[in-house]
Amino acid sequence: MRIRRVRRADIPQIARLYYETVHRVNARDYGPEQIEIWAPQVYPDAFWQRRFRRHRVLVAEDDGAVTGFVELGRKGEIDCFYVHYAHQHRRIGGALMGRVEREARGRGNRRLRADVSITAEPFFRRIGFRIVRRQIKICRNRTFKQTVMEKRLRRTG
Ligand SMILES: CC(C)(COP(=O)(O)OP(=O)(O)OC[C@H]1O[C@@H](n2cnc3c(N)ncnc32)[C@H](O)[C@@H]1OP(=O)(O)O)[C@@H](O)C(=O)NCCC(=O)NCCS
Repeated sequence: MRIRRVRRADIPQIARLYYETVHRVNARDYGPEQIEIWAPQVYPDAFWQRRFRRHRVLVAEDDGAVTGFVELGRKGEIDCFYVHYAHQHRRIGGALMGRVEREARGRGNRRLRADVSITAEPFFRRIGFRIVRRQIKICRNRTFKQTVMEKRLRRTG
């Protein structure tokens, strides 16, 4: 496995990975109507291209296949963070977040912050994030339980 910056050619794989992970992994913790709102379709490449202009995006790659991706915003916000449904619990998420931490520290971010799904909360605890608050997000008239979590970054050097 290697972690690298996203390339344009990765986008179709990312679009499908996001859809499938939401429908097969997050669907254990959220109801069918919530899942439909979260990922109603495989979003077109243009959707991801627009998002990726605002983020630093890292992907995990294995034998040419994208197995996970993460978006890191300028202030240390973690946005999309998904591992392929068939590659869960193989430390890909951990490797992606390790690299995110390094990059965030390197550019002077003091903390990482994320609105974390029920599904991912144990993972984020495990890698040292603390709960800031629990919240309900409303999207298209449906409620979604989330946990705002953060990790302070120690300065290096
Ligand atoms: C959250 C997610 C990205 C983690 O990716 P992953 O590659 O499966 O995670 P890892 O294998 O690197 O897990 C790292 C550690 O967290 C722990 N962990 C991961 N998921 C866990 C869970 N659901 N419950 C308990 N521990 C968990 C693992 O035990 C592992 O510890 P270990 O390496 O000592 O065994 C992945 O589960 C995912 O895609 N979830 C669905 C999408 C989602 O909700 N994304 C987050 C939006 S905020």
